[in-house]
Amino acid sequence: MTNKIKVAVSGACGKMGQAVIKAINAEADLELVSAIDITNTGKDIGEIVENKSCDVLIENSLENALKTKEIDVVVDFTNPDLVFENTKLILENGARPVIGTTGLTESQLEELKKLSEQKILGALVAPNFAVGAVLMMMFSQKAAKYFSNAEIIELHHNNKKDAPSGTAIKTAQLMTQERAEFGKDNCPEVETYKGSRGGVTESNIHIHSVRLPGFIAHQEVIFGAAGQALTIRHDSFDRISFMPGVILGIRHVMTIDSFVYGLENIL
Ligand SMILES: NC(=O)c1ccc[n+]([C@@H]2O[C@H](COP(=O)([O-])OP(=O)(O)OC[C@H]3O[C@@H](n4cnc5c(N)ncnc54)[C@H](O)[C@@H]3O)[C@@H](O)[C@H]2O)c1
Repeated sequence: MTNKIKVAVSGACGKMGQAVIKAINAEADLELVSAIDITNTGKDIGEIVENKSCDVLIENSLENALKTKEIDVVVDFTNPDLVFENTKLILENGARPVIGTTGLTESQLEELKKLSEQKILGALVAPNFAVGAVLMMMFSQKAAKYFSNAEIIELHHNNKKDAPSGTAIKTAQLMTQERAEFGKDNCPEVETYKGSRGGVTESNIHIHSVRLPGFIAHQEVIFGAAGQALTIRHDSFDRISFMPGVILGIRHVMTIDSFVYGLENIL
């Protein structure tokens, strides 16, 4: 039998982290070797996630885990303030990052790309691991060629820290590759309440971020033209929707020695 891929999960006790632990434990070719979180230190992550021991105790330092354990891949679902430093730490210590945490800026992505190339290590950053969401982005890029007006509405749970979502930013970037400026012919606008028209990208795509309890991750891209509208919508009703993409990402970074941004590039 071939060697299993040794995986660590950073942010293991979070909503996404727990789903990732379950998904890894269900795959025969993956071995969970470390669970990192600042909560529940010393507890068995299996007990927390599935009410059964998996003999991996939660540790509170990613750096320490990387320096003391043999780790092939680190999956990170922590928070936007940590993700850049965590990804650097992973590459600097010879492991391969699979990053789901959103909030990385373009210059940080550029820096991480250089570091992964310098270290000759595969790396994946994906603002959305749900295959349906990736298709929504690809279809929106295609539609952008034919519609000169478009707006994005993204809806998430009310504990999401960053806005707009990484998915909305990535969607707008892909649409902008097809059209440099949207809504050129709109009339001059006045906002009675500041922010009513949402955040505006350089290509003049308006992005509206909704934060409500009960939601997980949803996005609508609305294209408008004379006499017609096209709405492209994706809903993640459960975090399980992200898991096939995460598992694919873990396997994929072991086969490459470069940096990939976006799940669409490995499907
Ligand atoms: N790429 C995707 O498909 C996708 C999907 C859903 C969420 N996300 C993103 O993933 C991130 C996490 O989302 P979530 O809903 O699981 O959040 P969450 O708040 O439930 O989980 C974050 C976890 O990180 C832990 N943490 C905080 N500081 C830490 C540190 N210094 N070291 C280790 N762990 C630490 C927290 O204790 C918590 O358990 C967010 O940025 C979110 O936007 C991405």
